[in-house]
Amino acid sequence: MTEQASRLTIDYRNAMAGAVGEAHGVSDAMLDELAPEVARQHARLTAEHDVGGQRWMDLPSDTALAAEITAFAEGQRDRYDDFVLVGIGGSSLGAIATIQALTHPYRNLQPAAERGGPRFFVLDNPDPEKVAATLGTVNLERTLVNVVTKSGQTAETMANFLAARQALDGAVGPDRARQQIVATTDPESGLLRQLADQEGYRTFLAPPGVDGRMTVLSAVGMLPAAFCGCDIGGLLAGARAMRARCQSGEVRENPAYLLAALTVLGAARLGKSILVTMPYADALFGITDWFRQLWAESLGKRLANDGSEVFAGQTPIKALGAIDQHSQIQLYTEGPNDKQICLIGVDAYRARVEITGVPAGIPDLDYLRGAELGQLLQREEVATAWALTQAKRPNFTITAPTIDAAIVGEFFYLYELQTVMAGGLLNVNPFGQPGVEAGKNATYALMGRQGYEQLRDELTVPAAGGDRYRLVAG
Ligand code: PA5
Repeated sequence: MTEQASRLTIDYRNAMAGAVGEAHGVSDAMLDELAPEVARQHARLTAEHDVGGQRWMDLPSDTALAAEITAFAEGQRDRYDDFVLVGIGGSSLGAIATIQALTHPYRNLQPAAERGGPRFFVLDNPDPEKVAATLGTVNLERTLVNVVTKSGQTAETMANFLAARQALDGAVGPDRARQQIVATTDPESGLLRQLADQEGYRTFLAPPGVDGRMTVLSAVGMLPAAFCGCDIGGLLAGARAMRARCQSGEVRENPAYLLAALTVLGAARLGKSILVTMPYADALFGITDWFRQLWAESLGKRLANDGSEVFAGQTPIKALGAIDQHSQIQLYTEGPNDKQICLIGVDAYRARVEITGVPAGIPDLDYLRGAELGQLLQREEVATAWALTQAKRPNFTITAPTIDAAIVGEFFYLYELQTVMAGGLLNVNPFGQPGVEAGKNATYALMGRQGYEQLRDELTVPAAGGDRYRLVAG
């Protein structure tokens, strides 16, 4: 099988000191200085992978899994009108990003024949209004529920799942309901695994040894995507293409390491504590949401690997071009110079809208005569990069030739490796999320989960200051 080549282009000129000045841009000297550490981290990652670590790097190779999932989805798709993904964080964002990038923007409104596969709904937040509305909208008799939780115990997911299961039971009875549930979870541990084994649900694996936010290229992300007709084989091929391009330990040759170096240097040396990701394509907005979680949960760490307090991390912000030119760009251009901005462009959009009907007699509208919307959006992106650079705001641009499954796969792998390398350069562990666990445990305690009694007692002690710091109406 001939492997395809990576097609993303990375232009980082505007992130460099030559374009935005020494105070805001990374210099060649800084990159040179960091290069040996990048090479050392590369050697460490390679060595860890060689002895069975960094398992996320292997996901793009599992073409057998992609084939199995595609066959399963194709065999089942026509049985269902609706597909409900129940999961949160790393268990839903990757599927949402993929489906948003690769399917019609109004897919759920398309006639079934054009849509290809069931409508797609997500139960992530346990917001009773949304959950009730979703369960009241889908055709429960022909709904597949895919519950996804790696730990098998996340409160939001388990609660939403139990609500969905109850609705299915009520509509079709428990025996049929069981057949309309697919669980994606750890092969051995967790409450969902226990329930799935007990009830006989069809299961797929959340890959052991891979953090939730790195599982998009496993059944976690691929099963929902395949049901919605996405080319998951193409997704993996794109990820492999990026992986092949990222074999060098040289910072200027490896796109993921280059982006990691620019952002880490920006944060550590130039006060750029915020990273904005701004695609000029609605279809890529979901990827920025997925990346936001990846960057925040992986790098936002109190402790360095040696146990010292570092409070590491760069705050990820998502923006959408051109919409946020009319919302955020004013701040990015004239507000605090504390950001790096990653623009994402597309060379060829999948649709063309030409403007032919410009009315006569309004000369100031003539510039739109014969214009095409994609061209307008591309020029807005170039104009934004220029304006940011003029204002000495460091920015870089990733350009995709078009949006297809392989390009989406490239983005996933690029961003994952960038994040893991950034963790290495910051000397923090990019895996795990100890800061999230405290809130999770407190929720269990407040909900009365067994084993959390002591924490519940601590939580019910009134906060210092009592009612002095509360404003109550009336
Ligand atoms: O990246 C992670 O591990 C987390 O964001 C999880 O994906 C999220 O907390 C959901 O966890 P789980 O899949 O165990 O339900």
